[in-house]
Amino acid sequence: MTPYAERRARLAARMQPGAVAVLATAPEVLRNGDSDYPYRHDSYFYYLTGFTEPDSVLALVAAQGEQPARAILFCREKHLEREIWEGFRYGPEAAKAEFGVDEAFPIGELDAHMARLLANAPSLYYPLAHGAALDAQVGGWLKAVRAQGRSGVTAPATTHHLLDILDEMRLLKDAHEAGVMGRAAAISAQAHVRAMRASRPGMFEYEIEAELLHEFRRNGAQFPAYTPIVASGANACVLHYNANNRRVLDGELVLIDAGCELDGYASDITRTYPVNGRFSAPQQALYELVLQAQAAAFRAIMPGRPYSAMHDAAVQVLAQGMLDLGLLDKAKYGSVENAIAERAHLQFYMHGTGHWLGMDVHDVGAYRDTTLADKPSRPLAPGMALTVEPGIYVRPAPGVPEQFWNIGIRIEDDVIVREDGCLILSAAAPKAVDEIAALMREA
Ligand code: GLY
Ligand code: MN
Ligand code: MN
Repeated sequence: MTPYAERRARLAARMQPGAVAVLATAPEVLRNGDSDYPYRHDSYFYYLTGFTEPDSVLALVAAQGEQPARAILFCREKHLEREIWEGFRYGPEAAKAEFGVDEAFPIGELDAHMARLLANAPSLYYPLAHGAALDAQVGGWLKAVRAQGRSGVTAPATTHHLLDILDEMRLLKDAHEAGVMGRAAAISAQAHVRAMRASRPGMFEYEIEAELLHEFRRNGAQFPAYTPIVASGANACVLHYNANNRRVLDGELVLIDAGCELDGYASDITRTYPVNGRFSAPQQALYELVLQAQAAAFRAIMPGRPYSAMHDAAVQVLAQGMLDLGLLDKAKYGSVENAIAERAHLQFYMHGTGHWLGMDVHDVGAYRDTTLADKPSRPLAPGMALTVEPGIYVRPAPGVPEQFWNIGIRIEDDVIVREDGCLILSAAAPKAVDEIAALMREA
C-alpha cells in the first residue's frame, strides 16, 4: 500500500460509515500578464493522493457494511494540443493506474458525480469555509441531491470540517514523510555550507542568496520553501527582511534563513556567521548565548513534555545572558525570573522558539490541547516535526551597550521527536564557532 492509500484508509476509518469527503487541490494563480506563479499543489490534497496536477479533486467514500471505502479522483483529461503547449498530463485512466485510486473521471464531470455520490450519504466532510468556490460548489451539489427528494433520496444531514481530522494526521509524520524531510534538510544544510564558503566582504546579499538557490535546485529541490532571508549587519534585526540587496561589509554578521522544499516537504534552517570568518568579541558573546539557548531547547524536547517547554528553556538561558551581558539592567530586574515575568527579554527576543514543520513551513496541527478548559500546551509525541530557532536582535536603544548594537543572530534547526528525545535533521550545517571558522578558512 502506498503512503497515500494508507492515509486515505486512516481518514476513511475516522469518518462516519458511508459518509463522503471531498477535497480540491490548489488553483493556478496568475502573477502578471500571461505568466502564472510556479504551480504548487494543495498540501492536504497531496497528502492523500501524491497527485500534483492542478484542476483535481479527491472524493472519498467511507466503508459501510459490506461496501469497502472508495477513493475517486477527478482530473484533467488527456488533450493532445494542450499537452504540446503545456506538457504531459495523466488523464483519468493513467491516473487511476498510477495513483491507486478506485475510480477516476474527467474534472468536467465532477458536479454530476458528486450529486450521485452524495445521494443517501449520511454526512459530508469538506474544508468548511476554506474557499468561496468550493462552498458554492458544495451548495450546488446538495441542492441537486435534495431535488431528488421525491424519489426517496436523502441529502447529507450534517457537514464536518475535514481539515480538523487531517491537521491531526499531518502533525504526526509517518516514515515516508520523515525520509523526505531528512533529505530536504540535508540539501538545505549543504546550501548553507555553500553560502558560507562563498561569502566574502563586499558581496551583495543576493549573491549569497544565489548560492543557496543553486544548491537547492541542483539537488532536485523544486522550490525554496519560503522566500530566503539573507540579512547582513543591521538587516538581521528585521525579522522578515528579504530584500537581500545590501552590500555586506567586512566585520559584519550574515544571518541566512533559508530552506528548500523537496517533493512537497519544507526545511527551514537559519545560520548566522561572520562574513570574514572571524567573530568579534561582542558578536561571539551573543552567538554563544543563542547556541546555549538552542542546546537547552533541544534538551526540553521529549515525548510527554509540553511543546512550550523548549521555548521556556530557551527564554531562561537568553534572559540570563541578557542580564549577564548588560543588555538588561541587573539592578532593575534582580533575578532572571523577575526579568522574564516582566517580559523584559522581549526587547531582544520577540518571537517563539519554533513551529510545526512539514509540507507547509509553518505546518498544521494544534499547539494547545483545546479539549481542556485551560488549553495547555500539548504534549510532544514521537513523529512530530518542529523547528528550534532561538535568536537575539539588538536594536540601538538608550541603556543598551553600544558594542552589541545592530547585531542580530538566529540559529534554527529542524527536528523530529523520537522516543528518546529528538533527531536533528539539519545537523550537517555547521554552527559551532570553531567549525564555522574552519569552514570559512578553507574556502
Ligand atoms: N523561515 C520561517 C521561519 O523561520 O519561521
Ligand atoms: Mn522557522
Ligand atoms: Mn526560518
